[in-house]
Amino acid sequence: MTDAKLAEGVDPARVPKKTLATGAQIPAIGLGTFGSDNYTSDQIARAVVDAASVGYRHFDCASVYGNEHLIGPALREITHSGVAREDLWVTSKVWNDRHDDVIASCEQSLRDLKLDYLDLYLVHWPFPNAHAPGVDVSSRDAHARPYIHDDYMKTWARMETLAARGLVRHIGTSNMTIPKLELVLRDASLKPAANEMELHPHFQQPELFQYVLDRGIVPIGYSPIGSPSRPARDRTPDDTVDVEDPVILSIAERLGVHPAVVCVKWAAQRGQIPIPFSVKRSQYLATLQAVVGEPLTDAEMAAIAGIDKNNRLIKGQVFLWKENQSWEDLWDIHGEIAQ
Ligand SMILES: NC(=O)c1ccc[n+]([C@@H]2O[C@H](COP(=O)([O-])OP(=O)(O)OC[C@H]3O[C@@H](n4cnc5c(N)ncnc54)[C@H](OP(=O)(O)O)[C@@H]3O)[C@@H](O)[C@H]2O)c1
Repeated sequence: MTDAKLAEGVDPARVPKKTLATGAQIPAIGLGTFGSDNYTSDQIARAVVDAASVGYRHFDCASVYGNEHLIGPALREITHSGVAREDLWVTSKVWNDRHDDVIASCEQSLRDLKLDYLDLYLVHWPFPNAHAPGVDVSSRDAHARPYIHDDYMKTWARMETLAARGLVRHIGTSNMTIPKLELVLRDASLKPAANEMELHPHFQQPELFQYVLDRGIVPIGYSPIGSPSRPARDRTPDDTVDVEDPVILSIAERLGVHPAVVCVKWAAQRGQIPIPFSVKRSQYLATLQAVVGEPLTDAEMAAIAGIDKNNRLIKGQVFLWKENQSWEDLWDIHGEIAQ
């Protein structure tokens, strides 16, 4: 990083890190790369390069985001600019329609991302139920199935093979529940290093959050700002808005920052790794500065703990497998894996 860039960025050495069970260190904030309908893959790839220039070192990717082929050249540009590969943290995920074909899917992500290895590879969802990008929430996969543990463990065994072959340094889960993780932890040879889950002030998932922490699994929090720009199809009338919450607004006013920054500060201070998305320099610089700047007070942390509304935004309706089923079945809210 040049002196000029450093002046307007954050020295990556100052960004806190979390230690995984292997001893590896993951930057305590990452940049999301899912642009949904709002941004082009090219804009996102440019943002990745520029975010690295302001100090981001951790990027959250996935094959289903449809942009890894452009993020690969962006990562190349970053390493050619002098950032060592070992100083980057790149996550990718296997999509639902490749659970039987994990190794080939990972190899494709590696080719697209122009990497020899991934730092973390996740099973994106615990169901092999796929849907075309951008479909309405009423869309259903005719072959959709509930969570079948034996099938998931076959997929997990392929994940373990990737780790054994050195193609990925860590493997992990995403969109899981405690009942599902109980079974995976019982049967896995290689335990998940991280679990990516929706986490923001209005959806704090305290039980699952504590469950993973207690088992040495690092929680990575997606939609940390409450995904304020998600498309209409991903909104329901009862959804609440984190960045409009009076508690968040008053802390933002005290600090003189955007409410999004307060959400990211809270996330990092609580102990999850937020992965905010943005293609705008002022925004991704602000979220990176959030994790090195003035912390929230204990009273502010307690006040935010008190505004949890259990408001899940990414409900996953498109993965349902039965007629007239509630999206809550995807999340085992009765403590059992719904069939
Ligand atoms: N594992 C999974 O299943 C899963 C699911 C969902 C997401 N993810 C990951 O999580 C990432 C983030 O989630 P997300 O995009 O849903 O939601 P998010 O990060 O909560 O919200 C992103 C939006 O917040 C706004 N924003 C960002 N920084 C800001 C700032 N400093 N000030 C003001 N506004 C700011 C931007 O809105 P504008 O664009 O309108 O400016 C941006 O588009 C994704 O990109 C993806 O990598 C993973």
